[in-house]
Amino acid sequence: MNPDIEEVLISAEEIDAAVKRLGQELTKDYQDKNPVVVCILRGSVVFLADLVRQMQCPLEIDFMDLSSYGGGMESSGQVKILKDLDTDVAGRHVIIVEDIVDTGNTLAKIHDLFLHRQAESVKVVSFLNKPERRTANVTVDYVGVEIPDKFVVGYGMDFDEQYRGLPYIGILKPNVYAHLFN
Ligand code: IMP
Repeated sequence: MNPDIEEVLISAEEIDAAVKRLGQELTKDYQDKNPVVVCILRGSVVFLADLVRQMQCPLEIDFMDLSSYGGGMESSGQVKILKDLDTDVAGRHVIIVEDIVDTGNTLAKIHDLFLHRQAESVKVVSFLNKPERRTANVTVDYVGVEIPDKFVVGYGMDFDEQYRGLPYIGILKPNVYAHLFN
């Protein structure tokens, strides 16, 4: 195990089972809809790659980059579009793929944006959900695993751009981020 990790919260096997379940649900719900699967960079890329391989239906993939965290552990509350979609979503079924929904600020902003762009439907799939931290009024339609209010890394998620490649989801040792509070 990576020496900076205090505890494995979700193992690779548990991740695998949750992604398979989500893939089956989406396959059933989007069979004839050719959805645009929107990956929110960068934390969601690992989940996206696993998820689309579990979806047995026609689909397209596009990417969007947003900033709200700015390298720390708390959301700034401000969401900025750094890279927009290339796809025109008017009349399309959109599935937003998130790594984790925390305050919900990021999601609220892009959900409304896609509706404004006249998407036929907009649903959200998030691998993790931290409901205790929610401040924005958003619905996560498909959830992999609900977790308590802990800062997690791995399976695409970072702290200061590190740990995205870990095949499990873990909690960092406090000494790794202690300098932020001194
Ligand atoms: P929200 O706008 O507060 O819901 O934040 C969503 C984004 O913040 C996620 O897509 C992640 O990139 C990041 N984030 C929130 N919580 C965590 C965490 O525990 N670990 C790593 N990144 C996180």
